[in-house]
Amino acid sequence: MAGIIAPSILSADVTKLGEDVKLVEKAGAKYLHIDLMDGSFVPSMAYGPAWVKQLRPMTDLFLDVHLMAVHPEKHVDELAKAGADLIGVHVEATPHIHRVLQMIKKAGVKAEVVINPGTPVSAIVPVLGMVDQVLVMTVNPGFGGQAFLPEMTEKIKELVVYKQELGLDFDIEVDGGINNETAKLTAAAGANVFVAGSYVYDKKDPAAKVQTLLDVTK
Ligand code: DX5
Ligand code: ZN
Repeated sequence: MAGIIAPSILSADVTKLGEDVKLVEKAGAKYLHIDLMDGSFVPSMAYGPAWVKQLRPMTDLFLDVHLMAVHPEKHVDELAKAGADLIGVHVEATPHIHRVLQMIKKAGVKAEVVINPGTPVSAIVPVLGMVDQVLVMTVNPGFGGQAFLPEMTEKIKELVVYKQELGLDFDIEVDGGINNETAKLTAAAGANVFVAGSYVYDKKDPAAKVQTLLDVTK
C-alpha cells in the first residue's frame, strides 16, 4: 500500500494557495500539512488557526496540523473549531504532554505527539497508547528546505517495535527533508505518512512530485 502523502503548505505560494492545494489533492495526496509556528518554540512564525478555518471548506484533504508553539494547550480548542482533523504537539513544548493530548481527544480531533531530532523515543513511550499518530522530525523544526537527518530512521524502527510489543496501531509520520530518496528510506524503516514541503512545491509540477512519493512509498 502506498504511503499517505502530506504536502506542507509552508513551501506553497500563499498568493495562490487554493490552487496549490487543489493540485496536490488531485494528484493523490490525502493529507494537507499545516505548520503553525509561534516565533518562540521555533525561531520563525507561520500561519495560525485562521488559515485552518479558511482552508477547511476549500478541500476534502485531511488537515494535519503541526503545532510548533509554547503553551500548546492555548490553541487546541480554537484549532479544533477551525476544522483541524489532527493536532500534533511537541513533547518538548509542554511539561504536560499527557494533559494536552487528552484535551485534543476531548475536542474530537485526532492526537499526535511530535519529537524533535534531539529527543529520544523513550520520552514518549508513556503516551504511545493515547495517540493516533507519532511524528518523528527528520530536521530541526522551524524552516523548510533543510537536509534530512539520516540517523532519525533508527527512531522509526524503534517505534515499529513498540507498536508490535504494545499491540498499538498509531501511524508514523516523518517531516523534514523528505524527497523521493528519503521517503523510500523512511518507508522501508516503517513510516507511513510523509510530509514534503520544498520537494513538492519549490520547483515545477507538484502533482508529479506527489505521484513520485506515492510510487516510492509503495
Ligand atoms: C519544518 C516543518 C515542515 C516543513 C518541511 O519545521 O515542520 O513541515 O514544511 O519542509 P521540507 O519538506 O522542505 O523539509
Ligand atoms: Zn511540519
